[in-house]
Amino acid sequence: MEDQSFKDLCNRIADTNVEHQIGRVISAGSTVVRVTGLSRMAAIGDQVAIGGAMGEIIDINTDAVTVLPDRSCDGLRIGEQVTWIGRSELAPDDSWLGHVIDPYGAALDGGSLIQGPVSRSLRAAPPPATQRRHLGPRMATGLAVFDTILPLVRGQRMGLFAGSGVGKSMLLGQLAQNVDADVIVVALVGERGREVREFVDKTLGPERMAKTVVVAATSDQPPIARRRAVWSAMTVAEHFRDAGKQVFFLADSITRFAEAHREIALAAGEGVGLHGFPPSTAHLIMSLAERAGPGQGGTNGDITAIFSVLVAGSDMEGPIADTLRGVLDGHVVLDREIAERGRYPAIDVLRSVSRSLPGAANDHENALIALARRRLGAYDRAEMMIQSGLYSAGSDGDVDAAVQVWPALDAFIAEKAPSGPNAAFDRLADCLRAARPVRNAA
Ligand SMILES: Nc1ncnc2c1ncn2[C@@H]1O[C@H](COP(=O)(O)OP(=O)(O)OP(=O)(O)O)[C@@H](O)[C@H]1O
Ligand SMILES: [Mg+2]
Repeated sequence: MEDQSFKDLCNRIADTNVEHQIGRVISAGSTVVRVTGLSRMAAIGDQVAIGGAMGEIIDINTDAVTVLPDRSCDGLRIGEQVTWIGRSELAPDDSWLGHVIDPYGAALDGGSLIQGPVSRSLRAAPPPATQRRHLGPRMATGLAVFDTILPLVRGQRMGLFAGSGVGKSMLLGQLAQNVDADVIVVALVGERGREVREFVDKTLGPERMAKTVVVAATSDQPPIARRRAVWSAMTVAEHFRDAGKQVFFLADSITRFAEAHREIALAAGEGVGLHGFPPSTAHLIMSLAERAGPGQGGTNGDITAIFSVLVAGSDMEGPIADTLRGVLDGHVVLDREIAERGRYPAIDVLRSVSRSLPGAANDHENALIALARRRLGAYDRAEMMIQSGLYSAGSDGDVDAAVQVWPALDAFIAEKAPSGPNAAFDRLADCLRAARPVRNAA
């Protein structure tokens, strides 16, 4: 084992670039800096050191490159030195479990981290489509609704859509706490600083944290760090997937990721499209989502992923929500009205869908899911009439049945499922049984 570590270290030293490529500042504005002398070796996304800051190359032409620094370069002068550092890579290691790291792979919780033996590209390609496995078996999530009506299977990618403050982060936290996975990787992007600490200390706690890596870039971080945080987290997830682990990946939120990209793309001179997002946003989101999912071959694990998206009001058609919905295997919608009446998670089951169905459940379970949806749908259609006392029992058999089961079904959606999917389906069947006419109840 020690031999291997020594070999890895030797390889890393042999790979280290001792030659420093130096460029010079030729112009600097409030956001970007133009640099000559690096065009020949630089590539988009490479890192540079500039006037005490780090920067990313966001545009190249034959004479000069454009650099977006990660902080203000006040005092920068024409002719000042810019050092090319190299490709944007990360070398994750198993020992990173239990740590909160920054987007560059440095520990945010004190100490220093061992770099892993392999440097991975932050923008790696997904496994070849033809070699990927199918979606795997159902996962126990610890939450009744995900164990039954909206199942999550290994390698599935889901979107979590909601307005601000409706409970996205809390729900992701509940899933991270309970889901049945080997490793959990969490990207916290554009969060408030206190939320990162709360997530680690309160939501996860030390036991769960021991199998988790959190990559955080808070809202005060520059856009290149916020965008990089998501790529770094995905790179960490790929490291564990390739080691055969079942990885549960959470990104909170993809909206902040896309907003960081928007700032970078605008600085690079890209035009704007719908809602001010540049055309490259769709590819950015799709290529990230595609990296999650089932692994390839027999030894890789899978990356099961949930991406949260902030939607304005009930505008599920926003460019980010729209793009994500098209590439994912399901979406979960949280509803503000449900949150306002205090039922958490505030999942609107009728507007949510898991595309791992019907394969993820057996015939009996699929029949229960269909019946639950039918009852919830009937109640939803008649809700206004029922609430205002205008509905008279007996006028619609479906609504009558829905009225009887609704309180139990609504409570079921908020239940925990400590004993796994089979027990959760038994509970769902119990809730639906409440609708049987009284004379048949015995
Ligand atoms: N499961 C829950 N139980 C009790 N309260 C909850 C639950 N989920 C959310 N809440 C309430 O909703 C508030 C907002 O939750 P959360 O921070 O998860 O929302 P969010 O959608 O992530 O918000 P933002 O858009 O600001 O990121 C919480 O502070 C809490 O008061
Ligand atoms: Mg949140």
